[in-house]
Amino acid sequence: MVTGGPLTCARWRLFYGLRRQIGLLMLLFHAVNMVGGQIRYSIPEEMKKGSVIGNVAQDLGLDLKRIRSGRARIVTGENIHYTELKTDKGILVVNDRIDREQLCGDETPCSFSFEVILENPMELHRITVEVLDINDHAPVFPNKDKPISLEIGESAAVGVQFPLQSAEDLDVGQNALQDYVLSPNENFILKQHANPDGSKYVEMVLQKPLDRERHPHLSLKLIAVDGGTPQRSGTVNIDVTVLDSNDNVPVFNQSVYKASVMENTMKGTSVITVNATDADSGLNGVITYSLSKTKGNAGNVFNIDENTGTVSVSGQIDYEKDKKYEVRVEAKDQGGLTGTSKITIDVFDVNDNAPVINIMSFSSPVSEDAPPGTTIAIMNIKDADSESNGQIKCSIDGKLPFKIESSLTNYYNLITDQHFDRESVSEYNITITATDLGSPQLSSSTKLHLKISDVNDNAPLFNKNSYSAYITENNSPGISIFAVSARDSDWNQNARISYLLEDTQVGGSPVSTYVSLNSETGVLSAVRSFDYEQIKQLKLVVKAQDGGSPPLSSNVTVKVMIQDQNDNP
Ligand SMILES: *[C@@H]1O[C@H](CO)[C@@H](O)[C@H](O)[C@H]1NC(C)=O
Ligand SMILES: *[C@@H]1O[C@H](CO)[C@@H](O)[C@H](O)[C@H]1NC(C)=O
Repeated sequence: MVTGGPLTCARWRLFYGLRRQIGLLMLLFHAVNMVGGQIRYSIPEEMKKGSVIGNVAQDLGLDLKRIRSGRARIVTGENIHYTELKTDKGILVVNDRIDREQLCGDETPCSFSFEVILENPMELHRITVEVLDINDHAPVFPNKDKPISLEIGESAAVGVQFPLQSAEDLDVGQNALQDYVLSPNENFILKQHANPDGSKYVEMVLQKPLDRERHPHLSLKLIAVDGGTPQRSGTVNIDVTVLDSNDNVPVFNQSVYKASVMENTMKGTSVITVNATDADSGLNGVITYSLSKTKGNAGNVFNIDENTGTVSVSGQIDYEKDKKYEVRVEAKDQGGLTGTSKITIDVFDVNDNAPVINIMSFSSPVSEDAPPGTTIAIMNIKDADSESNGQIKCSIDGKLPFKIESSLTNYYNLITDQHFDRESVSEYNITITATDLGSPQLSSSTKLHLKISDVNDNAPLFNKNSYSAYITENNSPGISIFAVSARDSDWNQNARISYLLEDTQVGGSPVSTYVSLNSETGVLSAVRSFDYEQIKQLKLVVKAQDGGSPPLSSNVTVKVMIQDQNDNP
């Protein structure tokens, strides 16, 4: 019934009045053979007490007088308390509440019958009242106050069905339950099926996968509607709890983490803390961190707290070995899904390396006549640190006749700065110190022991400018008179002195006929016996010559005085 607005009693009467006339025609048609008549009324249920069901007198073709005189009354029949025959007006009215559902349940059509009897002459008429349903019941879910609770895994496949409870509507026909509606939602549609008895049942069908992370709970309504006017409905809530499945990978909050660390940082010092989140719940969202195998030795140098994500130093950080580390970090949930990110750690240099001095070449001894600018040594000096920590200053300790010049990168030359004089300084202990410019400064030094080799640059030198010696006459030949002595400040061969007697004449004879000179000792000896009466003194020149090449020499004059003896009477 789709007419607008509630049906009024009047309209019902009009409608069923038409039916009554047809019934009356049929009655007349069969009148000849019939003892009594039969009338059928249709009324909606739940009419007010006193409402007119029908004009019995008119419908049976009896006037009111006949009704009264015949003492018309309802006699037998089912449910006679529902109606009353008003004999004064010849009408049948409602006497009691007529609830179609109570009377017939879901049986249709629903009617009750009774007989009206008249006397003088006796007539018996059957009256059937059909009770029409009105939409006075809404569809009702059995536990409408208790929501339907469903727990569905978010991994449930599309097409999975979830049977729902059915509603009941006590009304019948169009007023009975007609349709189910599911409140609008993304995930589920409703599928209705018919039972063999014609009733409907519904299933909710998953048509789009659930996502617990977006919607952990869905609140839906299942609405059952009937076809009455006005339409009535019943509702039950459906609470869907979406159960987690491990469908989310842990995600780091940065794709690259940057950190820095000083070299030589103590073990246990934390460097950076990474953080990943997992949208899943429970164990599926519990993350443990790890550093994945990396090229280089970062794995030995850093470790990560698997629970907090704090990366700390676990080994020796050496700027000179690794200036930068790249570590992959993993976050793993307990369901086995893994997310990764990268950590780059820059190492800052600390001045932990002293310069290292290597003597590449060193020439010792050096000749004392080497000119200033002669290269004595070539050194390679390196510092493993970087920047100012690795820049080098090189110096010579003390005041020495050398200087250092830088040649190629990291190469330094030790060169002479002055003339040498072996006779005054024959060797140098040269301490070379290399200092870096770090803070604090580190230095190292090395010692060179440089010998100065001799050059024959000194002539022998007699210890006197001239010598005088005495010998008594009549000496025995061969006796030693006296010794000359010279010194040479050169070294070794250059200082080896030979004494020579210069070839001079004494009284027409070579001097060597008077004296001889030991070339090694410088001892002057008489060659013969002297006679004062013949020669009173000898004058000779002694030369001292060293073994250098060329040799150097010097002369000295020696006067030998012969002393008188009383040998002549
Ligand atoms: C140089 O050092 C050596 C040994 O250390 C030492 O015997 C020598 O006297 C030193 N020479 C100088 C000129 O200091
Ligand atoms: C002394 O030495 C020089 C040169 O070595 C030489 O010319 C000279 O004749 C030597 N004799 C004397 C007596 O000076």
